[in-house]
Amino acid sequence: MPGSPITITASILSADLGKLQEEIDSIEPFTDWIQFDIMDGHFVPNLSFGIPVLRSVKTKLSIDVHLMVSNPQDRIQEFLEAGAANITFHAEAIKNSDQRSSLIKAIKSGGAKAGIAINPPTPLSEISGVIDDIDLLLIMSVNPGFGGQTFLNDVLTKVKEARAKHPKLMIQMDGGIDDKTAPKCIKAGCYNLVSGSFIFGSKNRKTAISSLRQP
Ligand code: DX5
Repeated sequence: MPGSPITITASILSADLGKLQEEIDSIEPFTDWIQFDIMDGHFVPNLSFGIPVLRSVKTKLSIDVHLMVSNPQDRIQEFLEAGAANITFHAEAIKNSDQRSSLIKAIKSGGAKAGIAINPPTPLSEISGVIDDIDLLLIMSVNPGFGGQTFLNDVLTKVKEARAKHPKLMIQMDGGIDDKTAPKCIKAGCYNLVSGSFIFGSKNRKTAISSLRQP
């Protein structure tokens, strides 16, 4: 149901990767974006999947690539060529603001929207040098690396701060999003919610996704 004010991103991290196309088909009519959580086992302790998995599926959904990797600049081209609609890298992976700016420019010139992600301990001020250049701000509500973690309520303050300073910015939240935490995120000012284990762990995925849109 694209077009509603709150958009939903289904993270495939918690899908059954042994039948990934079937899993995507089961949610495609009800969600807006699909997220590929790319983990390198270095920036985050977990190792997930890469381009071959993305190329193995077909979907009409916008592909949202969340790079939880060191040296994200080395990964951009392949995801641009694979048709990513958004590519988000972590501020903690690139400390230098000029290098962040160059990466944002590279993503945009490649035709995708550029996102930057900040982990729960990272203050909004950390990305002050680039926040006006990004298309999307991903505020993590868990420490990245695994699905099924518990939502960290403290990050809602960061959402409110970001929304107050940047009224139009696409603010996305990711980590522990379910029918209980989603309303808090929407109230704080998120426009897009990423959910993995809640959606793919639900018997009725249509109902689960719909419950995430309720303010
Ligand atoms: C964490 C991942 C997860 C995933 C969604 O590194 O980014 O947040 O997308 O996980 P759930 O919805 O299962 O918490």
